[in-house]
Amino acid sequence: MANLIEMRGIVKRFGPVKALDGVDLRLEPGKILSLCGENGSGKSTLMKVLCGIYPHGDYEGQILFEGEEVKARTIKDTEKLGIAIIHQELTLIKELSILENIFLGAEISTKGLMDFPAMHKRTAELLKRVKLDVSPQTKVGDLGVGQQQLVEIAKALSKKARVLVLDEPSAPLTESETAILLDLVQELRASGVSCIYISHKLGEVKHISDDICVIRDGVHIATKPASTMTTDDIITMMVGREMKQLFPREDHDIGEVILKVGPINAWDISNPRMKKVVNASFELRKGEILGVSGLVGSGRTELMECIYGCYRGNHEGGVELNGRPLKLASAREALVQGIAMVPEDRKRNGIVPIMSVGQNITLAYLNEFANYGMLSMAKETNAIKQSIASLRVKTPGPELAIRNLSGGNQQKAILARFLLSTPDVLILDEPTRGIDVGAKYEIYRLMFQLVKKGISIIMVSSELPEVLGISDRVLVMHEGVIKGDLPNENLTQEIIMDCALSEGTAQ
Ligand SMILES: Nc1ncnc2c1ncn2[C@@H]1O[C@H](COP(=O)(O)OP(=O)(O)OP(=O)(O)O)[C@@H](O)[C@H]1O
Ligand SMILES: [Mg+2]
Repeated sequence: MANLIEMRGIVKRFGPVKALDGVDLRLEPGKILSLCGENGSGKSTLMKVLCGIYPHGDYEGQILFEGEEVKARTIKDTEKLGIAIIHQELTLIKELSILENIFLGAEISTKGLMDFPAMHKRTAELLKRVKLDVSPQTKVGDLGVGQQQLVEIAKALSKKARVLVLDEPSAPLTESETAILLDLVQELRASGVSCIYISHKLGEVKHISDDICVIRDGVHIATKPASTMTTDDIITMMVGREMKQLFPREDHDIGEVILKVGPINAWDISNPRMKKVVNASFELRKGEILGVSGLVGSGRTELMECIYGCYRGNHEGGVELNGRPLKLASAREALVQGIAMVPEDRKRNGIVPIMSVGQNITLAYLNEFANYGMLSMAKETNAIKQSIASLRVKTPGPELAIRNLSGGNQQKAILARFLLSTPDVLILDEPTRGIDVGAKYEIYRLMFQLVKKGISIIMVSSELPEVLGISDRVLVMHEGVIKGDLPNENLTQEIIMDCALSEGTAQ
């Protein structure tokens, strides 16, 4: 079949960094092509070249659309051809409504006047299509991250795309939102729309793709029909070696109870009558890894924020650390008291984009590197080097502005920042989101190093294999209630799911 898109020998440099080194890519009409590769392998860059974000002349090589060479100068040029991209970083404007975001720069007007009823109707249709049950007037900032992603998709659909490029669309989505997304992409394929799909969730990739293209370090490794590849094959091609084991479990001692939580109650920020956390109590032992499982929206993040002292809504109930009741009103105070947290939405809460990778790593811990008020440069430089190396953050050097790193490498840098610290309790909210399999392994290893030092870890995660692979014990939350507190022995995904959905509490 004739190719809809053909990219030939694409080379893209950022100064001395060669992000793409002669990549070829072919997409047939009505097909789903997945693009796989480690963090920093060049996936997002390749898509930005395709969409004209890096204009013609800024890269070497050739791009053909239906056999005709494309020399796009801006993203508008490729939008005209019917290429729509949804970026890894959300690009919606939080202060504007869904309707305004969808029609920004593409307003429907009749006789020179904006036609609000028409736009409203169209937005409502699009929201229905992505199964998002909210009003078109809702402010985007009031939506959860997953819902915002669905709005991005609605926006792309509004442009009558012939090719949809999805750069890690499912990273912030819940399982049910992901199912909606995958159904949508398949519906679109049936109606002739092609899709280039990027994801680190390889099960999803296997399920949805016609073909899979793997790149490594900016080089095309292979493109093959998905039906001929197992997820192990994909991993081997991505990392360049076989990975026998995904979870490096290590024995470690578990001590006395160090943290006593609750009972905690918390109410929704925008709807003070709705409870987000209901009478939640649990204990955490020294050197323990406690997994917290449950669907997104089950109150996991709110409970962690209450423990950390940064929940913005009404809440009651306290925390005892080492037998002392804590009064936590800020993240800094929590840190001083011995609790550190890596937030779920690191893009928004964790990163200072214009600062360097190194500065971002040490940001929260400047105190630790200060000697009599003077910053110990040597110590700081050392720590930065160590954390860049330990998580293999792919960067030419610590001086680079962090926004120039690939999405996953930004995540790794922020994690490195926290893994550098030595709190009593470390809370990690979705620590491996958007991170490739090899780097996940490094993160788990670091977590085991920390617990061996006597640090206790609470890990909130939506990925059940990870919860089962790493935790000593698992809390299961559902609708704000802790439904189960289960030792990780003979535990299965089914037991956890059953527990989440069971009636009453099973503590
Ligand atoms: N604006 C930039 N300036 C300098 N280097 C950059 C810039 N954008 C990307 N790079 C580098 O190019 C390489 C490829 O990055 P890219 O974002 O394409 O990776 P990716 O495959 O999408 O990774 P991830 O899975 O983490 O999203 C990385 O080494 C990255 O640091
Ligand atoms: Mg990327």
